[in-house]
Amino acid sequence: MYILMATPECAPVAKAGGLGDFVQGLSRELAAQGHQVEIILPKYDCLRYDRVQGMTPEHADLWVPFYERAVHCDVEVGEVDGLTCYFIDAHSEHGFFNRGAIYGDADDPDRFTFFSHAILAFLIASGRRPDIIHCNEWQTGLLPVLLFERYTALGLEKTRVCYSLHNLGHQGWSTPTVLEMNGLDVGRLMTPDRLQDPGNSQAVNLMKGGIVFSNFVTTVSPRYAWEIQHSDQGVGLQGVLRTHDRKFGGVLNGIDTTIWNPATDPFIAAHYDLEQLPAKGGNKRALRERLGLTDAPKPIVAVVSRLDRQKGIELIRHGIDASLARDAQFVLLGSAQDPAINALFWDAKQALAEHPDVHLELGYDEELAHLIYAGADMILIPSVYEPCGLTQMIAMRYGCVPIVRRVGGLADTVFDANYSDRPYEERNGYVFDEPTFEGLESALDRAIGLWRDYPDHFRQLRLNGMRMDNSWARPAQDYLNIYEHIRVRA
Ligand code: ADP
Ligand code: GLC
Repeated sequence: MYILMATPECAPVAKAGGLGDFVQGLSRELAAQGHQVEIILPKYDCLRYDRVQGMTPEHADLWVPFYERAVHCDVEVGEVDGLTCYFIDAHSEHGFFNRGAIYGDADDPDRFTFFSHAILAFLIASGRRPDIIHCNEWQTGLLPVLLFERYTALGLEKTRVCYSLHNLGHQGWSTPTVLEMNGLDVGRLMTPDRLQDPGNSQAVNLMKGGIVFSNFVTTVSPRYAWEIQHSDQGVGLQGVLRTHDRKFGGVLNGIDTTIWNPATDPFIAAHYDLEQLPAKGGNKRALRERLGLTDAPKPIVAVVSRLDRQKGIELIRHGIDASLARDAQFVLLGSAQDPAINALFWDAKQALAEHPDVHLELGYDEELAHLIYAGADMILIPSVYEPCGLTQMIAMRYGCVPIVRRVGGLADTVFDANYSDRPYEERNGYVFDEPTFEGLESALDRAIGLWRDYPDHFRQLRLNGMRMDNSWARPAQDYLNIYEHIRVRA
């Protein structure tokens, strides 16, 4: 099958969070199974060009409709970890993606709908005819709308769309101008059963457009699939998702187990596996050395996260003090876009600058993230909501025990050491329900208590986590079944 991934992110060249890992991991697995997989994303200034091999021009004369005129684009192609990636470069004073960040401008809906439009223009102009376009997030929500409203007859009759929702907190709200800009009929599309936002009749909702027009819609865990249909986690789209229930389902993400592998990881200090668990200690020493923590018989509690409201900011902040109060060490690697959140953690960093048991690293650092998973004993993920969450799966693969709130994909992957209905050999972490300081502390108490008083039991929890199969093999098969289900046979 020929599958094109349409996405604003792809690790390692353009990654802001788990979406980048998703695209890379699923694509690599599908390619390994013999399918033709290609990825298409905007050519941001902030691309990690050092990770693209052999970038060359692919299509030099692409004209993409934009209002009454057309914008000239180049498409370049390169290899990213063995996968073919196309990069769309728009030549316009608007400077669509000539910026130092993947997201962040107020007119992002204009920019990303232009990107969606450019993808279809490229396919038509270059004669590429994918069986499936796999769209992701609101940034590519207009693609199936454009495909089925404007472009099918131009050679894409057999192309079908699978659309994955990774985060309902961002739906791409905009004005009807975004439809006009792309040559779409506003009167026809601004209706309750099409792109009109359920909460604001004047607003266009791009994610809703993707849901309505795609042939199949997925989200990234079964539990989140339920939550967004039946609770306020759907952020207004509950009814739409229930209406389209017959083409909707949750597929739990995997992780790329060749990239996230403590036995071969180039970014960690000591390699280890299930049989060589004690070697993990070398990473704990290296982490302490690198971050200036004292060497003492204490567990390290870590956070590796985008610092966004979604992630439970107050609980993460409280986790620092709560860990120190229990005589544990604390390491945070966090990237914040919101200035208020950034300030909160800078203040904490300054206040704790002299403390020998804590280090807060503010920013994004792929290599350090690997060493933290390998060196820490526990990872704290107190999310308000969590569509899937990859950090708990990565941490478990590195024998680092997750402490999580029971939401979304966290609930689907972490099974409590004491209170789970799972067999003992599947229990792999600590889970709490209430998003309160007490909730978090109760789980932290149990985790640190076990580490200190029952090291053999704690070791068993690490091993249970390392043994879990969270690879992409099974979810990739689920996606292939979906593609097969919707594809048009010759
Ligand atoms: P989300 O996509 O909501 O951010 P996920 O748990 O799905 O959450 O994925 C997060 C991914 O981003 C993981 O690969 C994690 O290691 C990485 N990550 C998050 N924050 C940082 C950071 N500050 N530095 C390096 N990697 C980070
Ligand atoms: C989003 C979600 C996260 C999920 C990731 C990949 O960023 O916040 O929970 O793991 O997408 O699907």
